[in-house]
Amino acid sequence: TILTMKLVLKFCIFLSLVPNVKGCGPAEYQSDAGECCPMCGKGWVVQKDCTSNNITRCIQCVPDTHMNRPNGLRKCFPCKACDPGKGLRILQNCTSVTDTVCGVIDGFYCQEESENGECSFAVKHSSCHPGQRIKTLGKNHTNTVCEDCPHGQYSKYGVNCTEWTDCDIFGGIKIEDGSSQKDVVCQKPIKRHRKILPVVFCGLLPSVLMVLVAL
Ligand SMILES: *[C@@H]1O[C@H](CO)[C@@H](O)[C@H](O)[C@H]1NC(C)=O
Ligand SMILES: *[C@@H]1O[C@H](CO)[C@@H](O)[C@H](O)[C@H]1NC(C)=O
Ligand SMILES: *[C@@H]1O[C@H](CO)[C@@H](O)[C@H](O)[C@H]1NC(C)=O
Ligand SMILES: *[C@@H]1O[C@H](CO)[C@@H](O)[C@H](O)[C@H]1NC(C)=O
Repeated sequence: TILTMKLVLKFCIFLSLVPNVKGCGPAEYQSDAGECCPMCGKGWVVQKDCTSNNITRCIQCVPDTHMNRPNGLRKCFPCKACDPGKGLRILQNCTSVTDTVCGVIDGFYCQEESENGECSFAVKHSSCHPGQRIKTLGKNHTNTVCEDCPHGQYSKYGVNCTEWTDCDIFGGIKIEDGSSQKDVVCQKPIKRHRKILPVVFCGLLPSVLMVLVAL
């Protein structure tokens, strides 16, 4: 039991030493003069350290700077910019207590994230090639997914696939094959001309003959 008491005593001494090791309390900082001073709150920084008979004097962060935690610092942090050259735009403006939040520009997706999970570099969604269609539109964190048009369909611009025209449907003839990138080429029905020509010819013939006879 004496041993136990000794251990408990040691532990208590250790505990009581902890604050001394750290120096100041959790809401305090140590000034250059060695004083434990109350911290300034979020959005503020120290203008003048406390003294034995006065509290810390704080000043507010000026625009374009911020301070996101209680502190004993002299300067607010600069607000970060969202560089459009890196595919970024402002999602949330900087305030005196929070830094700017950047997001990806519309039509871009994130390629690199900083430690806090915010995007730090984004690139443009790729477009699909002719002969392909967009399977899945790109999102903030994913690129566009393309897929080839199935046989019998074509895509001129890499957006949607369209069925080749069926020439038979209107009685035409296919004169050029389609590909994944272009439609088949149909020739307008010729049969109708064949029908019309004889009709016209036969309809006109008697009157031509009559004219000839009359002459
Ligand atoms: C304490 O600080 C205030 C302003 O922050 C100042 O007006 C005053 O003179 C200071 N008092 C002492 C004793 O330093
Ligand atoms: C940020 O502030 C600027 C100018 O102060 C304003 O034009 C813009 O709309 C703000 N952006 C957001 C996301 O609030
Ligand atoms: C995707 O990014 C846009 C533009 O930056 C933003 O408005 C939107 O909230 C984001 N959506 C998600 C789920 O992050
Ligand atoms: C592509 O097809 C989808 C649905 O199939 C449709 O909503 C969209 O408008 C089409 N886009 C174009 C450019 O034709």
